[in-house]
Amino acid sequence: MQHDKVLILDFGSQYTQLIARRVRELNIYSEIHPFNKIPTDIQGYKAVILSGSPYSVRGDEALHPDLSEIRGKKPLLGVCYGAQYLAHFGGGNVAPSNTREYGRANLSFVKENEVFLANISEGSQVWMSHSDTIKELPSNGVLLASTHDVENAAYKIEGETTFAIQFHPEVYHSTDGKQLLENFLINIAEVTPDWTPDSFVDETVAALKAELGSDKVVLGLSGGVDSTVAAVLLNKAIGENLYCVFVNNGLLRKNEFDGVLNQYEGMGLNVKGVDASARFLDALAGESDPEKKRKAIGRAFIEVFDDEAHLIEDVKWLAQGTIYPDVIESVSATGGPSATIKSHHNVGGLPDFMKLKIVEPLKALFKDEVRRVGASMGLDPELLGRHPFPGPGLAIRILGDITAEKVNILQEVDAIFINGLKEWGLYDKVWQAGAILLPVNSVGVMGDERTYEKCVALRAVESTDGMTADWVNLPYEFLQKTSNDIINKVKGVNRVVYDISSKPPATIEWE
Ligand code: XMP
Repeated sequence: MQHDKVLILDFGSQYTQLIARRVRELNIYSEIHPFNKIPTDIQGYKAVILSGSPYSVRGDEALHPDLSEIRGKKPLLGVCYGAQYLAHFGGGNVAPSNTREYGRANLSFVKENEVFLANISEGSQVWMSHSDTIKELPSNGVLLASTHDVENAAYKIEGETTFAIQFHPEVYHSTDGKQLLENFLINIAEVTPDWTPDSFVDETVAALKAELGSDKVVLGLSGGVDSTVAAVLLNKAIGENLYCVFVNNGLLRKNEFDGVLNQYEGMGLNVKGVDASARFLDALAGESDPEKKRKAIGRAFIEVFDDEAHLIEDVKWLAQGTIYPDVIESVSATGGPSATIKSHHNVGGLPDFMKLKIVEPLKALFKDEVRRVGASMGLDPELLGRHPFPGPGLAIRILGDITAEKVNILQEVDAIFINGLKEWGLYDKVWQAGAILLPVNSVGVMGDERTYEKCVALRAVESTDGMTADWVNLPYEFLQKTSNDIINKVKGVNRVVYDISSKPPATIEWE
């Protein structure tokens, strides 16, 4: 089944991905493409949205694509830079603002009974973030709404289905932003909102069946949401021909390897658990540089996975849990085409499994959509709500070199912390949490004895995508109980600290 699609042309705004997500929340499929790479099959898109940008339409560097196949021919919405673009290159005038225009503003309607503004209240809060302003509308422009500081906050072009807004409907602080997108896309552009998790599953399974036929596919499971949802989709399509490999690198959480393996088997996946802990510990021996540790783990994983892939006779495909943010081409800070698609297909010198054909069933989805698709296939909510966990595992939470003993200590500490968060109903309020084993000993006293033992840090952050994060204000009573439990139960630890650094300037992981 073909769904209506919306094209979002990216001019480099920090909010472009949010536009795509808001559109998809309306059950409408949207794609982001760089402003200078307009898809050749433009006819296949039902409407187009121009994003914001850090650039000015007035400068020599103005990002200026040829919209002649779009403008006046398709429903078009310009947001912020997009609105200024349509004004500046359409006979209007854009100039620097006299007043700062960042943050909240309130809309007042200039023109009543506009479908574009239906069900939006007069005075509705919108979010502004721009330093240029539209002084004069383009030819045939009709003013629809203003704010206190911005006269030309929303306009349309007479005789076209072209609309433009100076504010950002995609951000949470624009309270009726989603309604406005709905008005434009559903009521004006007549896009059919029928793209849902259930429809995604049915269509993807059918497409995978057609593409893979009776070929064999190998997939590396990590215990995380993306690889698991990818495996379940593929399993629906090709059953036993999907060969999943779940590698224990010895750096997972306490009991995680057996627990997750059982869970996978219970889900009917054809999965092989490979305990390669010793191989990883060997590869890490004596290494304390964070980047070298990461590389050693990456190499060991490739070796183990390559060995396993060779055992599957006649395997043709490698499946990956790649998601949409990994494949969006970003517009670079210089405005040039940056084409930074993640690429590992640099053939020659690659392990054999990487020469397989690649299948990526989730590459059109955002993370929250992967979770919705997983839920619609009946996956355990606990699995879907699991915190992210880094590929190198506890190795980047043990500062300095890694030994089996240190891994054991950290697994115990981490288990007390994470189980505590679950027991106290705090786990789902936290985006990611874990413990860090510090390379310092400090003096303590237990009973009448002096101790000189390890210090651990606890880290719990809130975030939406890991790019920025803030520490979570966990209840003192919880921290008190957790600290007591750790020091009393984990031999070798006599001090617990809580990390209260935000990202930036810190990062989430300590290494
Ligand atoms: P940072 O420490 O950069 O972490 O603030 C942001 C997010 O990325 C995860 N992370 C990694 N994930 N391999 C991974 O698969 C890595 O080497 C790695 N380093 C950091 C981190 O857990 C957080 O969610």
